Amino acid sequence: MLSSPTSVRASWPRVTDASRQFVEDLVARGLERREARWLVEEFAPGGDLDAERAVLAAADRRLRGEPLQYIIGHWPFRQLDLDVDSRVLIPRPETEELVELALRELAAMDSATPLIADLGCGSGAIGLALLHELAQRGVTGSLIAVDASSDALAVAKRNALKHGLHRVSFVESNWFGGLDESFHTSFDLIVSNPPYIAEGEMASLDAVLSFEPRSALVAGDDGGPGMSDLATIISSAPSWLRPHGALLAEHGFSQGEAVVTLARSAGFTDVRDERDMAGHPRILVAKGR
Ligand SMILES: C[S@@+](CC[C@H](N)C(=O)[O-])C[C@H]1O[C@@H](n2cnc3c(N)ncnc32)[C@H](O)[C@@H]1O
Repeated sequence: MLSSPTSVRASWPRVTDASRQFVEDLVARGLERREARWLVEEFAPGGDLDAERAVLAAADRRLRGEPLQYIIGHWPFRQLDLDVDSRVLIPRPETEELVELALRELAAMDSATPLIADLGCGSGAIGLALLHELAQRGVTGSLIAVDASSDALAVAKRNALKHGLHRVSFVESNWFGGLDESFHTSFDLIVSNPPYIAEGEMASLDAVLSFEPRSALVAGDDGGPGMSDLATIISSAPSWLRPHGALLAEHGFSQGEAVVTLARSAGFTDVRDERDMAGHPRILVAKGR
């Protein structure tokens, strides 16, 4: 199950004396103090009184339940500050762990020019973070960022430009369906955080999810509740990976056994499932053929 993205901002923003009254006004309207401080810092840095209207409009949106990340319009993911809006999923902390595991797999491969596919790239979070952190290690990665949503791809493109990450091709595609055949057996790494919530589960989850694109969250039940996209990706991945390439896929905490079984059936020989920081089964790591 996806965690609430509103709980993840790690540090307190700077609050000057001049902005303190603004914060108190927003708290009096019903906002949590830390969120009031974030909005004031974002829309009226230093307590800029001319920005009052913008702060109040932002506070109203938050009080109507809209996620803070969409109101602010950007959010940290690994070392990147990603633009986010209602066209894309808000990147989650457990997905940062997938990036960490992917970097370890790439380091073990020791390729100077790895080719990576990010399936369902959304804001570009996973693939762009990988390119950025590989560059810091002197590794020149190339990324094929795939999404079925042209809206999501527009956000991912903006984030690539924002961070000067140019070795990216953006492909509007239903998973592998629109990829050029020449990519068969080419990818060192395939990463994905696909939709994995079953339709029937949605009602019981965090209200924040109702602001995010449904197509980023909900998957069909072929292969088990919410499993259909994971099943498609896992069964197709072997023919797109180079020998000894790796697939890393995020999944729901009750889907661990199912994804491991699927990966073995697809022909992966080295398969494990990693837990997230909360101790839940979360990330499939599958290699070998
Ligand atoms: C859970 S979001 C992940 C976004 C981003 N990778 C992240 O981790 O923050 C899933 C993404 O998969 C995309 N998607 C859904 N169905 C798809 C399909 N059939 N083919 C390609 N992308 C799809 C959605 O548009 C969405 O951007």
